[in-house]
Amino acid sequence: MNSAILLVDVASASRDSWKSFLQSYNYDVFTAEDGEFALRECLELQPDLVLLHDTLPDVDGFELCRRMKGNPLNLQIPIVLIKPSSDPADVARGRKAGAAEFWGTSTSLQEALSRVESLLRLRGYIDEQAKSVVLSLARSIEAKSPLMNGHSERIVKYALQLAASLDLPEVDLQELRIACLLHDIGKVSVPDEILLKPGALNTEETEIVRQHPVIGEHICSPLKSLRRVLPVIRHHHERMDGSGYPDGLRGDEIPLMARILQIADIYDALITDRPYRCALSSEDALETLSGEASHGWLDASLVWKFSQICRSGDYFPLRGRTMLASYYA
Ligand SMILES: [Fe+2]
Ligand SMILES: [Fe+2]
Repeated sequence: MNSAILLVDVASASRDSWKSFLQSYNYDVFTAEDGEFALRECLELQPDLVLLHDTLPDVDGFELCRRMKGNPLNLQIPIVLIKPSSDPADVARGRKAGAAEFWGTSTSLQEALSRVESLLRLRGYIDEQAKSVVLSLARSIEAKSPLMNGHSERIVKYALQLAASLDLPEVDLQELRIACLLHDIGKVSVPDEILLKPGALNTEETEIVRQHPVIGEHICSPLKSLRRVLPVIRHHHERMDGSGYPDGLRGDEIPLMARILQIADIYDALITDRPYRCALSSEDALETLSGEASHGWLDASLVWKFSQICRSGDYFPLRGRTMLASYYA
């Protein structure tokens, strides 16, 4: 996938030559020629880099940079502020506004290209580091509860087998794996006394827990490498009949990967011990899943497919109740 650059500048011959030069190096270049449009584009496109020329009629470049950086979704996007200036105070103003670099002297296209490349490399590195921190955070939430420990790793296994049986491409499988590992990361905001409560939750506690898909999406949204898994995280508690949360999506409105993940998620919950019940056998868990599909909650065709996979024994062999409980504990 090509890197996307948002080029903010008034329409001019100079902007056109920057654009075609960068395109010739396989960058996807988008342009904005006023402040409001630039803010909108930055938010919607989530480009890999913004080249912001301080030439706009409606807003000062430093102010626009500050406003772009003011949105948490743009925090990871490097902004290069470009203004012909030899005033050292401008460099400090640029830093203060959140610019990754301030280019004051006129920069040749070739020189700009090498700086762009190194900024993008740095961004990719930071993104990967941040992703591993987010994955560790997700693991630490699970580790709080002995019953949940290993839950995400297990649902990776189930979800990937279901997805592979649908011939989804490798790139989708990779994203599904990450989505499984991060699906409940929003539970970081749930107090331990609720998260680890052995009994049923009251209305207020349930409401707090139900916020976790949206909070999870917010946690992951600044990272470019997680952008495609955001809908899976947000929608993993929707139901086919629209009675789920957070958006009450129905049927195919729910992303396929979220429908796959929720089957794996519920299956794993059923076949593991809970404070209020023992682990179900795989067969009983499949019966429960198919009951939920008949209720209109789960995707019936995916549940059927998943049951076929489980019963075939080719993927994850059926085990008796006690073996399952100890194997997955
Ligand atoms: Fe969840
Ligand atoms: Fe889960």
